[in-house]
Amino acid sequence: MSLPDIDLSAVPAHVACVMDGNGRWAERRGLPRTAGHEAGLDALFDAVDGALEIGVQWLTVYAFSTENWSRPRSEVRFLLEFNRSILGARRDEMHRRGVRLRFVGGRDRRLARGLLKEMDTAAELTAANRRLTLTVAFNYGGRAEITEAVRRIVAAGIQPGEITEDTVGSHLFTPDMPDPDLFIRTSGEYRLSNFLLWQVAYSEMVFLDVLWPDFSRRHLFEAVAEYQRRERRFGGVDQ
Ligand code: FPP
Repeated sequence: MSLPDIDLSAVPAHVACVMDGNGRWAERRGLPRTAGHEAGLDALFDAVDGALEIGVQWLTVYAFSTENWSRPRSEVRFLLEFNRSILGARRDEMHRRGVRLRFVGGRDRRLARGLLKEMDTAAELTAANRRLTLTVAFNYGGRAEITEAVRRIVAAGIQPGEITEDTVGSHLFTPDMPDPDLFIRTSGEYRLSNFLLWQVAYSEMVFLDVLWPDFSRRHLFEAVAEYQRRERRFGGVDQ
């Protein structure tokens, strides 16, 4: 795979992806929506390989949102079970590649104990890896994360006058995670959908017209090239 437009010295450290369009991809082929999620998994692993190839250090993907519980029960059940089986099947491969797996989201009663255990096992096994941190947002919602941070701040007895942006940031689910430099959403939709609301404040947004199962590292490289063409000023002006 050639990397025509990418400056390897300026690759975004953290890329966040909303993997959207699995259902439509399947419906267009007359397949059940779950077939779209299965195809989406290959796209995810190709994106991981691409991220490793160009030196992205953090990749965060939206695998199941707090809103996804309202999908048909059979699809919800499939997604939960699918995630569990993927972890068992792909964990060692990720470990061999130097990928640290992490999970971010609510650990509520709707998640089977077996799934939580698979997540914990994968996270523990890969905890020392540093080549790439793949954070899977599962049962995740940005507002829920900020709400939980507020609860933690209050519970810690921190006084209103002492609360800064850093205080909020350090009470999020993953305080050590740098903010995403690049946010990618597939499927031609232009929404954040409650993903990493606090963290994407200054991310460059790239919206692609491809459905997630058709996504590959080539699209990741195109998004990175687009990111590199933009000027990042973080609210300032060029001097
Ligand atoms: C959005 O497409 C995608 C999802 C809700 C699930 C994403 C999950 C995967 C790609 C599987 C990877 C699994 C893990 C554990 C990382 P959609 O169903 O909303 O598509 P639509 O908008 O076309 O209906």
